Amino acid sequence: MPSEIVSVLSNQPVGEDVFAMELPALHTPKPGQFYMLRREGSALLLPRAISLCRQEGDTLTLLYKIVGKGTAELAAMKPKDKLRLTGPLGNGWPLEELSGKVLLVGGGIGIAPLLSAAKALHHQGNPPDCCLGFPHQPFYHEPFQPYCRALQIATESGVAGQKGLVTQLFDPGQYDAVLCCGPTPMMKAVVDLCKAAGTPVWVSLENRMACGVGACLVCTCTDHQGKNRRTCKEGPVFRGEEINFDP
Ligand code: FES
Repeated sequence: MPSEIVSVLSNQPVGEDVFAMELPALHTPKPGQFYMLRREGSALLLPRAISLCRQEGDTLTLLYKIVGKGTAELAAMKPKDKLRLTGPLGNGWPLEELSGKVLLVGGGIGIAPLLSAAKALHHQGNPPDCCLGFPHQPFYHEPFQPYCRALQIATESGVAGQKGLVTQLFDPGQYDAVLCCGPTPMMKAVVDLCKAAGTPVWVSLENRMACGVGACLVCTCTDHQGKNRRTCKEGPVFRGEEINFDP
């Protein structure tokens, strides 16, 4: 697995506690894969798992939200600071299996792994519809626009787009496939709607990770057969119907 020391190219706030970090792309990731990041010399034991948001030429963009010490340390990094970048890791979205009308549903920082999927589908000649939901002020939604057939926004506070939840924006019965990433209750709700409509759905899980390579079992989720699945190794993308969101 590739693991190298790289220099930060840029690291900018793009929303409340949300940052976009640009790094050199030393390998070509698949949409939906992720990276482990650790600042060089960090006193913190574990790296942070961050999804690929986009790749443009030689530059990766990773979008992340400050949720603890690890991500706060990343947010304090400046251009030319060094970090260890491990990856790309995980399986990515099954874009080659998708045909017909595709819907992307993102919530909060969960929009990050959907942007590269939108771009890839657009390049395949099948631009998706996108529904993005935020608690309050939307962020980083403009980069989706060029790749989407239609882009809809929902905010719980009503400051932008439709007031309410992202699940109120679409009818899964109108689609041949749905890709989803966001908070667990939102993904569960989207999977339930898709199941009821008979529409295949894939989710990208954002479980806590430690090793990122399948060795520690910190990231395990459970399927409906009670089988443990490692989010970092067998995921982070799973068929939504398989995952037990209420273990
Ligand atoms: Fe260690 Fe997944 S993070 S097994």
